[in-house]
Amino acid sequence: MNATTSASQRIAELRQQLAEASSAYHERDELLIPDAEYDRLMRELEALEAAHPELDDADSPSHQVGGKASSRFAEVVHAVPMLSLGNAFSDEEVHDFVRRIDERLHRKQLLFSAEPKLDGLAINLRYENGVFVQGATRGDGATGEDVSANLRQIKVIPQRLLGEGWPEVLEVRGEVYMPRADFERYNEQARLHGGKVLANPRNGAAGSLRQLDPKVSAQRPLSFYAYGLGEVDGELPPTHSGTLAQLAQWGFPVSDLCQVVEGAEGLLAYYRDIGQRRDGLPFDIDGVVYKLDDREGQQAMGFVARAPRWAIAHKFPAQEQTTTVEAIEIQIGRTGAATPVARLKPVHVAGVVVTNATLHNADQIARLDVRVGDTVIVRRAGDVIPEVVSVIADRRPEGAVPWQMPRSCPVCGAEIVREEGAAAWRCSGELSCPAQRKEAIAHFASRKAMDIDGLGDKYIETLVDAGIVRGVADLYLLDRDQLLVLKLALDADSPEALASQLTPHLQPEGSGDTLNAIIKLDPADAGWRAQALAVPAQFEWNTRKIASKWADNLVAAIANSRNTKLERLLFALGIEHVGESTAKALSAWFGDLELIRRLPWPLFKRVPDIGGEVARSIGHFMDQPGNQQAIDDLLARGVQINDRHPPSAKLRADLTLATLLQDLEIPKVTPVRAKQLAEAFKTVDAIRDESAHNFVTAGLPAETANALVAWLDRDANAALFSAAGAAMQELLLKAPEAAAQATGPLEGKTVVLTGTLAQMSRDDAKARLEALGAKVAGSVSKKTSFVVAGSEAGSKLDKANELGVDVWDEACLLTFLADNGQSA
Ligand code: IVH
Repeated sequence: MNATTSASQRIAELRQQLAEASSAYHERDELLIPDAEYDRLMRELEALEAAHPELDDADSPSHQVGGKASSRFAEVVHAVPMLSLGNAFSDEEVHDFVRRIDERLHRKQLLFSAEPKLDGLAINLRYENGVFVQGATRGDGATGEDVSANLRQIKVIPQRLLGEGWPEVLEVRGEVYMPRADFERYNEQARLHGGKVLANPRNGAAGSLRQLDPKVSAQRPLSFYAYGLGEVDGELPPTHSGTLAQLAQWGFPVSDLCQVVEGAEGLLAYYRDIGQRRDGLPFDIDGVVYKLDDREGQQAMGFVARAPRWAIAHKFPAQEQTTTVEAIEIQIGRTGAATPVARLKPVHVAGVVVTNATLHNADQIARLDVRVGDTVIVRRAGDVIPEVVSVIADRRPEGAVPWQMPRSCPVCGAEIVREEGAAAWRCSGELSCPAQRKEAIAHFASRKAMDIDGLGDKYIETLVDAGIVRGVADLYLLDRDQLLVLKLALDADSPEALASQLTPHLQPEGSGDTLNAIIKLDPADAGWRAQALAVPAQFEWNTRKIASKWADNLVAAIANSRNTKLERLLFALGIEHVGESTAKALSAWFGDLELIRRLPWPLFKRVPDIGGEVARSIGHFMDQPGNQQAIDDLLARGVQINDRHPPSAKLRADLTLATLLQDLEIPKVTPVRAKQLAEAFKTVDAIRDESAHNFVTAGLPAETANALVAWLDRDANAALFSAAGAAMQELLLKAPEAAAQATGPLEGKTVVLTGTLAQMSRDDAKARLEALGAKVAGSVSKKTSFVVAGSEAGSKLDKANELGVDVWDEACLLTFLADNGQSA
């Protein structure tokens, strides 16, 4: 076979693959291969065609603009063809682009309009005498689809132009896109209700716009940015940037990321700037676009086959790539949630090697039908965990079988169960499952919990596997010797290497046994380090010989964490549904761990924002003897709460027999009935022993009376009822007078933090302000007492100025905090 036949074969292959992918994408909104691969194949084809001009063909995908218009919509012949853009992937290619223009135009200065390249769908909007008359997709560039009805649903697209002076005929081109947050929200709903999940925001935009029913498309949140023109019958500014500014005045959204820059250096600086901001933008972009700014220059440059010579797209590294699934495993989280994870053939995605991707849950796997052996598209955007987006069905190997959730936990062997009505499966092993234990310990030690800095996952993993740390309280038994061995074990490459590191530190007696036991371990067993740690040994450390800053710091961090605030400990315990803010509220309302440990769950419902589910979850946690034991151990090992206080005055004001009866969730006992019962019977004891007859006599409907008696008839309910009554009495006795409750100088004030503070983190500032009694809110309103504005404060500061709310700078805040005993 000679070079030309193999080139012609490859060209044929590429043409077929690209044509299939293109028609699937443009006509059916289906993604056969990710963009990056499409671009790569297209470049390969273009290079081959350039090297073999005799094999060129006018029908080649390299000469086509997009897909054919689908027949479901009326056809629109574009008055001015809708072209595509050439691509640049490197600085070099951007320099080439500028050089080509320079060589042809010989200008002193080359100005460009630099713009984000939104990842959506190109459309043409036609206005006649300022009124929107028709909107169409690009289609194959010459003929598109009439999607006017759907475009009318997009609020930011003007139906009538603002201002004056518009050309009689004005066609504006731009990108319809789906903001990322709307995309996420849409998919969350779809996952919940078993609907079709959108592969990416662009597919969301394309699919929505090509809905036949405008009502369906109206439910999908789409947006639009203008970036160019089609047919124009009238005058417009002589530059592209001037035109965009004019379009903005007529009511079109124009991205505020558009900038005029000079020369190749200006373009590349823009590219890097936008690249850095990419993940923080509210929409997906796959690159930036550079356009020669003056229209005269554009005309002089003209066009090549598919694209203008005066513009180019500079692409960012792809966020999607294809790879194959080598295995599907499940990971067990802190509360036992079993999350399937795809182990992938390593692949570079946006500059990072990805080997794992989340599959979210079993339903998601079923919906995508991901199987071991499949070729899949993985996506990694920003710091988000990489995820499997879709399966390339054509590339499925024979014999691949649908995946099923395993019956038992791969870590502890306990049954994997599915909660009623929930999408999640969980391991039923609770804290007997080492995976859950490790997660629970990592959470306990985390910064916003007990803040034990330095205790990373790999240490926890080995300590748990070695049986040294079985629960959170065991952290307080760790000593420096153990940590040193742990560190040496993790740093050692083999059991032998570890043994030789340990030799100088072992006490003479029995040291031979210890070393032998370690050397015998199998280095191929992933658990050998944990096994080595479990070998009993007597050490005699020579502190001068073995210095470890890590161990010293960790010992100090563990010791420091003993003295803690109630909210931290409550959060650290990892009670399901008790996040930071709930922990904080529990601490503020009840003030005492001993109280919270014993309270029947209905009492927790008095705390604003705690409902039945959360209250029950706290009660359930405290009902487990293992959890109570863990709390006892923590206290016995020196954990101390330094902000214990009596229950809040608000609680005292709120807690009455009537509210208690409501909170107990007794069938038919509505707030009105609860109040009636409380007024008639006064105490819990009086109600418990009453008959249905007497409830009716007291004015309750027979239905309610019967429901109450039936409820009380069950032993568990009767016990809960008595316990709740007793707890209420106790709380009322403990609660201070309301007057004694008034605290800091910011009591009753609402503060908003914005911008970046130089001297302290926002969390820190928030905590200090709260300690002085302030409520720290997220948004500015007329009720805001003052706003603290750090550097680069944005819209919140504007809002404060607009509303005339006081603004403090950081220096002012620091002085105030220092004056009130809260200095950093
Ligand atoms: S200009 C003749 N500007 O990228 C110039 N296109 O690969 C035509 N796109 O079809 C396009 N943002 O869908 C231009 N600021 C921008 C753009 C942009 C996104 C899309 C558009 C176009 C594709 C070209």
